Amino acid sequence: MQVKSFEEYQQAWRKSVEQPEQFWEEIAGNFQWRKKWDKVLEWNFKEPKVEWFKGAKLNITENCLDRHLEKNGDVPAIIWEPNDPTEDHRVLTYRQLHDKVCQFANVLKNNGAKRGDRICIYMPMVPELAIAVLACARIGAIHSVVFGGFSAQSIADRIKDADCNIIVTADGSYRGTKEVPLKSTIDDALVQCPSVKRVIVLTRSHTPVSMIKGRDVWWEDEVKKVETQGNPECPVEEMDAEDMLFILYTSGSTGKPKGVVHTCGGYMVYTGYTFSNAFQYQPGEVYFCTADIGWITGHSYIVYGPLSQGATTLMFEGIPTWPNAGRFWDIVEKYKVNILYTAPTAIRSLMSFGDEVVAGKDLSSLTKLGSVGEPINEEAWHWFDEKIGHGKCPIVDTWWQTETGGFMISPIAGVTPTKPGYATLPLPGVQPILVDENGKEIEDNGVSGNLCIKFPWPGMLRTTYGDHERCRQTYFATYENLYFTGDGCLRDEDGYYRITGRVDDVLNVSGHRIGTAEVENAINMHSTVVESAVVGYPHDIKGQGVYAFVVSPGKHGDEEITRKDIIMTVSRIIGPIAKPDKIQFVSGLPKTRSGKIMRRILRKIAEGDTSNLGDTSTLLDPAVVDEIKAGAL
Ligand code: PRX
Repeated sequence: MQVKSFEEYQQAWRKSVEQPEQFWEEIAGNFQWRKKWDKVLEWNFKEPKVEWFKGAKLNITENCLDRHLEKNGDVPAIIWEPNDPTEDHRVLTYRQLHDKVCQFANVLKNNGAKRGDRICIYMPMVPELAIAVLACARIGAIHSVVFGGFSAQSIADRIKDADCNIIVTADGSYRGTKEVPLKSTIDDALVQCPSVKRVIVLTRSHTPVSMIKGRDVWWEDEVKKVETQGNPECPVEEMDAEDMLFILYTSGSTGKPKGVVHTCGGYMVYTGYTFSNAFQYQPGEVYFCTADIGWITGHSYIVYGPLSQGATTLMFEGIPTWPNAGRFWDIVEKYKVNILYTAPTAIRSLMSFGDEVVAGKDLSSLTKLGSVGEPINEEAWHWFDEKIGHGKCPIVDTWWQTETGGFMISPIAGVTPTKPGYATLPLPGVQPILVDENGKEIEDNGVSGNLCIKFPWPGMLRTTYGDHERCRQTYFATYENLYFTGDGCLRDEDGYYRITGRVDDVLNVSGHRIGTAEVENAINMHSTVVESAVVGYPHDIKGQGVYAFVVSPGKHGDEEITRKDIIMTVSRIIGPIAKPDKIQFVSGLPKTRSGKIMRRILRKIAEGDTSNLGDTSTLLDPAVVDEIKAGAL
């Protein structure tokens, strides 16, 4: 699955365009199937309907676990570094991970889980999170992992949307010096969720929790029961290639997050292939992805991709800046990490602590670096290259999305010549095009446009859970016969792609995707708020910050208190990740006569660029713009 030279890359890409079915059939041959497919691909982007490896049977955990046991059972599958560096780390070999997954799969079954059930997972970054995910996949249950930083309300929305009947969580989690009360947040969420019949709680922080009789059980007690039943094996459920594997919620330009659905066969092939090829993974290498399993990066490139390739994947529970800003580099040194995959926001944050934090750390084990989540600015790219990679590690800047399942546009380590700030070229199997506003393909190089994909790939989303029409509207209706990514992109004279950022109302804050409408809805819940408009602005560390323009008389006229209350409201409704960085109180918002908010103007003001606000003549009340300009933060 790995191309070894740029020439081979070009040949592979050409083949993938000319004979896509043959191309993917060969890749799929590297995986273990219970039954081979009848048809490689059936598709139309109109409905949309996309089916890969139709008729094939498999279980992804057989590919991630069982097939490695005979030769590589003793190879470390997961290395776990705890939040507190003085606590013992853990290593699970493939055999141990297999056994634990089987054990927990049996726990799920004992607790009533069946094939097709939706199971919500809200857990800290401990090996049991990966175990829970894989145990669901083993029995054919559909996991919906919710990032540990989301609020009770966000969890409840997701549980209700997917109609989950089981929750897997922990008493609490650690993040730096903070203790996060996960179970208590789940309890708050469940007040709204009668469909949930069982909550399985792992002990992690020993935070006191309430355990409701008949509903809540301890992970450890349930595992003991399975042990005394004496049957540690759990046979895999034979899944259809197109059966759902998981749902993962992500933000869009409208209010409610949508449940992106990935399926068993295509997702397995795509994540395994892209992981192996882009990182040029070699047996024995230690791979460290700093993401959280609550996001797609963790699903695809901490769990499924690396494990299907028999890799050693390092999971880190803590944060990059605790006990100090050298933590990543200590981890690299401690485990002799070979491949480090992280995000520009983390790089910028660590850069800001100065070079002393890196000085003296032994980073000589590193051979390849990766970046994901947002455009990487050149300064951060060079720092990563020089201070971390010592100029000898290729940087793979991987562009992709929750919806794409895996890398789409990315260098292949050591094969594709890189350029700072560029995701470079499409991987073999990916057919990107740029279109203008009218959907006309831009053929020339050196021009920017909206990034679309014109042919299916196995890792693409199949639907948005419970609402296929929304999937069609969001991704397949803007331009006919194209998947629209929502990203703007420049293709330079060499045909290299540089992602310039979202062209819809989606923000990218520290690599987290946040819908402006979602934040506005949360702000508007606050009792004194009349209305609000949220835009992004450039932020040195986070990439983008959240700027809210709010119409509110204020609580007893005290702006400062109202500001804090609004922040608290957003935190409660969505989670701390969506908290506005700036709140400007205004007497009105710039609207057209038809009542539409002119976001373009607000964006410019938030960016601090008020020299040319464009045409404001269609505004209902142009004077409001002067007031907002004068009060800009
Ligand atoms: O705008 C792009 C940006 O992140 C968006 C996808 O966000 P999410 O679904 O949360 O997935 C993040 C992890 C894959 C994209 O639409 N993005 C992601 N990777 C890059 C990027 N922007 C520029 N360069 C990247 N490498």
